[in-house]
Amino acid sequence: MNSAAPNAVSNPGDKLHSERVLIVDFGSQVTQLIARRIRESGVYSEIHPFNTVTDDFIREFAPKAVILSGGPASAGENETPRAPDGLWEMGLPVLGICYGEMTMAQQLGGKVTASEHQEFGRTEVEITGESALFDGIWKPGDTHQVWMSHGDKIDAIPEGFSPIAVTPTAPFATIADEKRKFYGVQFHPEVVHTPDGAKLLSNFTHAIAGCVGNWTMSAFKDDEIAKVRRQVGKGRVICGLSGGVDSSVVAALLHEAIGDQLTCVFVDTGVMREGEGDQVVALFRDHYNIPLVHRDASEMFLGKLDGVSDPEKKRKIIGATFIDVFEEEAAKIEGAEFLAQGTLYPDVIESVSFTGGPSVTIKSHHNVGGLPERMKLKLVEPLRELFKDEVRALGRELGLPDEMVNRHPFPGPGLAIRLPGGVTEEKVGILRKADTIYLDEIRKAGLYDDIWQAFAVLLPVQTVGVMGDARTYDYVLALRAVTSTDGMTADSFPFSHDFLTQVSGRIINEVRGINRVVYDVTSKPPGTIEWE
Ligand code: XMP
Repeated sequence: MNSAAPNAVSNPGDKLHSERVLIVDFGSQVTQLIARRIRESGVYSEIHPFNTVTDDFIREFAPKAVILSGGPASAGENETPRAPDGLWEMGLPVLGICYGEMTMAQQLGGKVTASEHQEFGRTEVEITGESALFDGIWKPGDTHQVWMSHGDKIDAIPEGFSPIAVTPTAPFATIADEKRKFYGVQFHPEVVHTPDGAKLLSNFTHAIAGCVGNWTMSAFKDDEIAKVRRQVGKGRVICGLSGGVDSSVVAALLHEAIGDQLTCVFVDTGVMREGEGDQVVALFRDHYNIPLVHRDASEMFLGKLDGVSDPEKKRKIIGATFIDVFEEEAAKIEGAEFLAQGTLYPDVIESVSFTGGPSVTIKSHHNVGGLPERMKLKLVEPLRELFKDEVRALGRELGLPDEMVNRHPFPGPGLAIRLPGGVTEEKVGILRKADTIYLDEIRKAGLYDDIWQAFAVLLPVQTVGVMGDARTYDYVLALRAVTSTDGMTADSFPFSHDFLTQVSGRIINEVRGINRVVYDVTSKPPGTIEWE
């Protein structure tokens, strides 16, 4: 990371990153959405925890504008998180969102108290003033839907500010000091429940901060290719392919950057979906001509999983076996110095977050972590700056087929964590067939891209049924489909009854071993997306 600012991810010196927005994170659940919306407006943005953002940091980071996120604290209390005092003297446009507005008002001499009326959820704001922030969307006299989530109230705004939008309980729902280009919104423009929010944020970066919009995946691709070439020189790089979007995009990008200095390794764990290995080989070895090691280790994985039904044990066994096999194959590739990984920006943010990420381990996730140190390999992480939707856009830019780029996420431990109880080859086979039919029906109904993730789970429960004139005693299959923006929260997908009946009918008729199908309607939280 060659940046002047100590924990910045990129360098302000190059054109791609020269227009940058600094997002100061006060701990809101939706801070990442702010960064995504800003990037969708064509402007690069980074998130940094408030306790690492000093005056010097901001100067070195050299943003075109600063956004203060929401957060759980109450600005009316003492000792609350604050923006550094120097920020207000730097001549930079600043937008405070929710808690960000509160601390801005408080720090600039206004008065904030905890409100008796907490506003959560959808509400209407009435526009009372004109502002560049509202360009092309809102004008005085209009009312518009926004998403509120706060418990503080501004009693007095600082000198220089005027209210430009109100709600019945929030007289300062939006405030502006147009001269200093300071803005505060009590609602969340970054969430989809504020339908004009993305445009409002784009107004902030373009109309107010004067950004042109250099951040495109086409520019990123060229920049990253040059960066990888500088980093790797003539060295050899190994890339683990899983069949998923991230590793596929890494491989396609590296191939374009360094050609046959790249070797990919695909380990078939025996708990993958139908045709997964063949697809990877067809795309990368046959189409791209990338040297590809295809190791079928199904027997080894299934052997080690034999008799194990505890979900965490299954995850650990698969993770450790994967590393052993990958290491064995990688050791055969002569002169390998680098390991490429599909680390994404949310992983980077999580590791520097002031909350330190989730405090309890709900599930131990499996990826190739741990390998680089064991193998003394240097890391190449070309997706470190990107969100998932940007990775997909980059994949399209690199010419990867749509069905690869738009694939639903698939967990490293694969079908093993979709088989509660013991994992046997027979059960994997039954589940694989049912899963294929389910996804086939989803694609035929044109629903695949509306769903974050859809899959089947084979339950260790047998029930009585009747087929033809005979009694059956077979397994129950649960279907799961969720909508989500980041996998952190999720809602079950509202399929029509007809659709579910159609899928169930096909599965029971075509897959031997299943005689009953149920649909999981649990959201996350309290459920998780996967069953184990
Ligand atoms: P949960 O089940 O925790 O899943 O709600 C959230 C998202 O993470 C995926 N997932 C994994 N991905 N390795 C992965 O690469 C794993 O071990 C793993 N476990 C869960 C899950 O499919 C969902 O998209």
